[in-house]
Amino acid sequence: KSTLAKQLAAALGYVYVDTGAMYRAVAYFAMQHNLVSETHLDKAGLIAQLSNINLRFQFNPTLGFAEMYLNNKNIEAQIRTIEVSRMVSKVAEISEVRAKLVEQQQAMGKDKGIVMDGRDIGTNVLPNADVKVYLTASVECRAMRRFKELEEKGEACDFEQIRQDIQERDERDMTREIAPLKQAEDATLIDSSEMGIDDVVKAIIALTK
Ligand code: DC
Repeated sequence: KSTLAKQLAAALGYVYVDTGAMYRAVAYFAMQHNLVSETHLDKAGLIAQLSNINLRFQFNPTLGFAEMYLNNKNIEAQIRTIEVSRMVSKVAEISEVRAKLVEQQQAMGKDKGIVMDGRDIGTNVLPNADVKVYLTASVECRAMRRFKELEEKGEACDFEQIRQDIQERDERDMTREIAPLKQAEDATLIDSSEMGIDDVVKAIIALTK
């Protein structure tokens, strides 16, 4: 999803905003501040510390996309770990966290062209976006893509574990009470299971014309 959104933003000359990275950054903050033990998250403790969380994106010209900074520290690598991936949907369920991040996301989309990726962008963050895409792919297919990505990075990983994690995260994201993952009525559905990235980029660019 992010690989695609980065390419799309580059093709359109727009800034890419990865909202999942913002939720991941808050999850990472919680882990760093001892608000997480095993699988339990101290929600009240995190809410109390929200004003100490300062997030921003900074464009890295070498990489060609913006990296996530938490309190002026680059945490792009730290937020992609399996530990953060496991914790993040618990963080994303907290309404105070969402309110803070959504406000920041809406400000980013105010005056300029952006490609924003996330679970609730078309439905909640930018309901008046010019083009909305609901991108999906089978769980197996997404697990294989993630598996290959981790393998290329040289990280040990287990396909079945990844598949299960993705499935569980989908369920949580789709059934949560606040801003669940769902297709906006005016969004175009694209199933990328059988498509390469270039095909999806082309299909979305065609929607912008
Ligand atoms: O896209 P991702 O895997 O980096 O997203 C991480 C988590 O953040 C995912 O479990 C759902 C949550 N999220 C969200 O609730 N709303 C968004 N706009 C983006 C991500």
